[in-house]
Amino acid sequence: MRISEKVAEVINQQIHHELTASYTYLGMAAYFDAEGLGGFANWFRSHSEEENAHAMRLYEYLAARGVKMGFQALEAPKTDYESAVDVVKAALAHEQKVTDQIKAMFDVVMDAREYTAQPMLHWFLNEQIEEEELFSSVLDQVEAATSRFDLLQLDKELGQRAPSSGASEE
Ligand SMILES: [Fe+2]
Repeated sequence: MRISEKVAEVINQQIHHELTASYTYLGMAAYFDAEGLGGFANWFRSHSEEENAHAMRLYEYLAARGVKMGFQALEAPKTDYESAVDVVKAALAHEQKVTDQIKAMFDVVMDAREYTAQPMLHWFLNEQIEEEELFSSVLDQVEAATSRFDLLQLDKELGQRAPSSGASEE
C-alpha cells in the first residue's frame, strides 16, 4: 500500500534520528571503554545496536511501500564526558528528545490520516516509555554511586544486564 509523501518523508527523517541515537550511544560506549568501565561500555554498545535495529525497522517499512529513501551525513558523536553521571544524564535527555521526535512523526501521520502507520508508531512510543524508564533508573543508580568502588560494582552489574544483541527489542 502506498503512503503519502509527507509521511514517507517524516519516517525517512526518523531513520536519521535513530541512527544518530545509535552513533551517540556508540560515542558513550567509547567513553566508558576508555575509562576502564567495560560493563557500562557493553551496555551502551548494546543500546547502540538497538537504535540501529529501530532504524532498520523504519527502513523496512518504507522499502515495503516502495519509497525511495534518502540519507544525510551523521554528525560525529561526542566521546568526552565529565563523568558517568554526565553520560547517563545525556543519554536520558537523548531518549526524551527521540520521544518528542516520534510524537512529531505521529502528528504528521495523524494529519495525513495514514492509519496504517499507526501500529508501528505505537510500537515506537511504547519502546520510548521503556527506554526512558530504564535510563532514568540507571541514572538513579549512577548518582547513588559515590566512590570508584561503587561505580565498579555498578559496572559489573550493567555488564551482566547488557542484552546480547540488537535484536533484543523484538
Ligand atoms: Fe530508538
